[in-house]
Amino acid sequence: MLVILGCLCILVQLAQGHPSPKVTYDGHKVLKILHHTQDDYRKLLRMELQFGLDFWKLPKHVNDSMYVRVGPQHYDSFVKQLTGLNTVFSTLIEDVQDLLDSQSSPSVGQTIHESRRAASALSSGMVLNTYHRYVAINNYLDDLTQLVLPRGVTATVQSIGTSEENRDVKLIKISSPTGLAAKRGIFIDGGIHAREWVSPATVIYTIEQLAFNPKYDVGINTLLERYDVFLVPVVNPDGYEYSHTNERMWRKNRKINTGSSCVGVDLNRNFPFQWAPAIGGSTNPCFDTFSGDSPGSEAETANIVNFLRQNGQNIDAYLTVHSYGQMWLYPWGFTSALPADYLDLDSAALSAVTAIRNTHNKRYDIGSSTNVLYAAAGGSDDFAKGDTGIKYAYTIELRDVGRYGFALPTSEIIPTAEEFVAGLTALADNIYTRETGKK
Ligand code: ARG
Ligand code: ZN
Repeated sequence: MLVILGCLCILVQLAQGHPSPKVTYDGHKVLKILHHTQDDYRKLLRMELQFGLDFWKLPKHVNDSMYVRVGPQHYDSFVKQLTGLNTVFSTLIEDVQDLLDSQSSPSVGQTIHESRRAASALSSGMVLNTYHRYVAINNYLDDLTQLVLPRGVTATVQSIGTSEENRDVKLIKISSPTGLAAKRGIFIDGGIHAREWVSPATVIYTIEQLAFNPKYDVGINTLLERYDVFLVPVVNPDGYEYSHTNERMWRKNRKINTGSSCVGVDLNRNFPFQWAPAIGGSTNPCFDTFSGDSPGSEAETANIVNFLRQNGQNIDAYLTVHSYGQMWLYPWGFTSALPADYLDLDSAALSAVTAIRNTHNKRYDIGSSTNVLYAAAGGSDDFAKGDTGIKYAYTIELRDVGRYGFALPTSEIIPTAEEFVAGLTALADNIYTRETGKK
């Protein structure tokens, strides 16, 4: 229904020439559903369009439940269907809008830098415990390049291309003058999926820690002595903005699909390596997992593809930050088979989740995305490893495990980001040692 509403809004918008109203989630519930047979599972998945379902989490293994958002207009008939199937279900979130309203509204302002900072400054002044808008994030990145950072660290920003709606997609490179003369790279991106707001927030926090290292963390020092770090906080700016202005639960980009009134492509089904809509994606533009018309069709996909193809030979690790579910996943997503070197990826991931556990005691699961989560072809991690040969490619699903889901309260941004940075530095140390044989 949301999808259909969304389409009507666009028509109204065109006809009347004013922006479409913001979608609200009054009376929307998130149900936790446990099915028993594969047949029932397939039936549930097929109800997506009929009942306007939004799958917040799919089952990870047999006897695991799924989380599904359903609107009030479909609730009764959907529940009737559920009762008809052999399922057990309960309510996880009573009212999604109440939950969103209870959270502090995102800052549109640009609380960024104080002008002229001393070299000893320990932060940019960017507020880290808020979900920022795209413009504020870009200003932050640009401002960082103007500051004199501690320990001679440099920050450089480039645009790696534009989005379907012509927004710049910016990459920041953080580099230290100390340590190895020629450094290999670590690449981190966020915001492939619009509604996963804690992802850009975590990448921003990571940038801030790398640039200023305010806690004098030896892990960060060591990381920057060995690696240059390339970060893209918002891969999908159009979707990200749309999730702020119109539909909080938007996932895709904002591509106008030819021949359909439904908007958007799931960028994480669109990457040109083993692209296959039948595997966890869709050929239907109205689905949240629409794979696009062809592999790499989307501008946002092409931006990452081009950068990784040009620089992949010099990059050891690709980390794509998503939410939620608390997982540190490695390829493949298109098959249940494992990469030949999966033991290396698994043990590096283990060092990361161990560091995470030691930070705020959160557990993250490890494994190949097909085996731990579900099969889904066209993901950026599979592309990074399969096409550009970056050995350590991971999808990180940040907090939480379903209490708040995509509506993670701002109070959890910093702890989530702290544990991610701990995971990152542990991972880099593990990889460096394995790949160079040095300590
Ligand atoms: N939640 C992510 C998604 O659905 C997981 C991606 C894992 N990687 C993969 N190649 N399937 O896009
Ligand atoms: Zn995601």
